[in-house]
Amino acid sequence: MVKYWGKDNVVWQDKMVEIDFPHVIHAQQFSLDDLEKLFMLTAILKQQIGKGKKKDWLNGNIVLNLIYEPSTRTMTSFSVAGLRLGADVITPADPAKLSSVIKGETLEDSIRIYADKVDVIILRHKDDDSALRASRSRFCQGVPIINAGAGKGQHPTQSLLDYFTIRERFGRIEGLIVAICGDLKHGRTSRSLAYLLSKYKGVEIYFVAPQVAQMSPDVLDYLTSHNVKWHQSETLKEVISFVDVCYMTRFQTEREDPEEKEIMAHASMVNVIDEQLAESMKDDAIIMHPLPRIHEIKWGVDKNKRSVYFLQALNGDYIRMALLLCILNPDKVEKLLASAA
Ligand code: NCD
Repeated sequence: MVKYWGKDNVVWQDKMVEIDFPHVIHAQQFSLDDLEKLFMLTAILKQQIGKGKKKDWLNGNIVLNLIYEPSTRTMTSFSVAGLRLGADVITPADPAKLSSVIKGETLEDSIRIYADKVDVIILRHKDDDSALRASRSRFCQGVPIINAGAGKGQHPTQSLLDYFTIRERFGRIEGLIVAICGDLKHGRTSRSLAYLLSKYKGVEIYFVAPQVAQMSPDVLDYLTSHNVKWHQSETLKEVISFVDVCYMTRFQTEREDPEEKEIMAHASMVNVIDEQLAESMKDDAIIMHPLPRIHEIKWGVDKNKRSVYFLQALNGDYIRMALLLCILNPDKVEKLLASAA
């Protein structure tokens, strides 16, 4: 089998465990070479497939969207990706409430049942280690698990579409100055993006948030050990004029402890992009957001030429098509890449 991304080791339950193709568990597992191939493939798919178009490249495969937490974009994006490539897609309604989980079934047992029936499992779940747990071989029996958001841990496919969007706009990642702003303490998209950016030379990251919502030490230590320049800043005003990318995120109220609610509500009002702040950015800078946006980007900013968050969301369909194709039909991937070379 052609492998489109390689092995990675992580510490889990005090043991070193291996993540291997075909699972997509966290952003660190992708090498520069993997990312290059994914970019090329995604660009090809974006050219060839759109509304009203359907390929038969995944005919015969069943994609399971196992979405235990709320989702607008990620869930439909995986569905659209599967359907446009010819796969069938199953999305059980609200499995957190309507599946046997409510009777006390473990994630591991549920995964074992689903793995007998489908060809790939897209998993969004409240536990930080859910995708990793699900991918341990005896549970999923080799059926690929794609992490579509694991608690406040990681959201690797979001970071891949973020990467695609940045690269599409700038033609490179190297040397860019990126501000990641919002609830960095509880947000999984900012963590995955920081890990992914750390692979590129000369990238500089500004984590912008009041101290109570700042990025966790595990990510900061990782960046330091990989020689990535990072800084912390309380306010966007300090950095907005010189960054290339301003990546906004919402405050994750559902993940806050009751005792931090008030202070977080206050912190969430500190950094808001309005029309004036957006206009003070470099001419070719971009404003990104994984969405949903709450109040951190004013609606008036949507018409600013720097705002790319809706385009970013659309790119999610194509990066997820690329991932599904790499996993389920690698021969087709080879052909597509060869024809574009
Ligand atoms: C993000 C998520 O679920 O982490 N949403 C998404 O997938 N685009 C961001 C968020 O919920 O804030």
